[in-house]
Amino acid sequence: MSNIVLECRDLSKSYFDGAALIQVLQGVNLQVQAGEMIAVIGNSGSGKSTLMHLLGGLDKPSSGNILIKGKNIAALSETEKCDLRNRNLGFVYQFHHLLPEFTALENVCMPLLIGNMDPKMAEPKAEHILELVGLKERLTHKISELSGGERQRVAIARALVIDPLCILADEPTGNLDPKNAERVFQLFLDLQKACQTSVVIVTHDIRLAEQTQRMLKIENGELVLI
Ligand SMILES: Nc1ncnc2c1ncn2[C@@H]1O[C@H](COP(=O)(O)OP(=O)(O)O)[C@@H](O)[C@H]1O
Ligand SMILES: [Mg+2]
Repeated sequence: MSNIVLECRDLSKSYFDGAALIQVLQGVNLQVQAGEMIAVIGNSGSGKSTLMHLLGGLDKPSSGNILIKGKNIAALSETEKCDLRNRNLGFVYQFHHLLPEFTALENVCMPLLIGNMDPKMAEPKAEHILELVGLKERLTHKISELSGGERQRVAIARALVIDPLCILADEPTGNLDPKNAERVFQLFLDLQKACQTSVVIVTHDIRLAEQTQRMLKIENGELVLI
């Protein structure tokens, strides 16, 4: 059986800005193995977020294919694609996108409840994940009452709670001071080992990227190993 959880083949993406065609990605190939952590670096505007959106099935490529668990998402209906994504992928962004007036626990429960899990089962599961990310003492705090680093931890817990095969994290430390950035990055490394979840993480910080198993750079629309 294949150990590839997420894959893109000959992926290209261009935008038409009204006057010219902007070729952002060109012939990108990537295979994410089960349990591995990959860092993606590249200059601002090089196409990192574009790649993450495509890998997550949130945007359509101009050409090429994306396979989640070996399934080509282009062949699926919108509902099937959403279902495959919701069951297998977790997303973490630079800004947390949590619901500020809800507690940490409620935010982490949300994906489980959306997936129709009984609240009696969802709550202990969410509690456990929040404990894993070091927020045992913050379960009933509202997001608006938490620090930046703590909010990112909740966002990571929310991504992890569905037991995803892979987490796609787009500059999750980009909005944090260096100390908290280091801590949150370390958390990804620890969780990836503890939970055997694959992680694709975009970062500007090469010192952080160097701690992963594979470091890739987007350069002139291509993804190169460095
Ligand atoms: N929806 C869009 N329409 C037109 N151009 C876009 C769109 N999204 C991104 N771009 C362009 O694609 C390039 C790559 O953007 P992005 O993937 O966000 O880069 P990064 O995340 O590496 O900073 C940029 O030049 C950006 O302006
Ligand atoms: Mg970006």
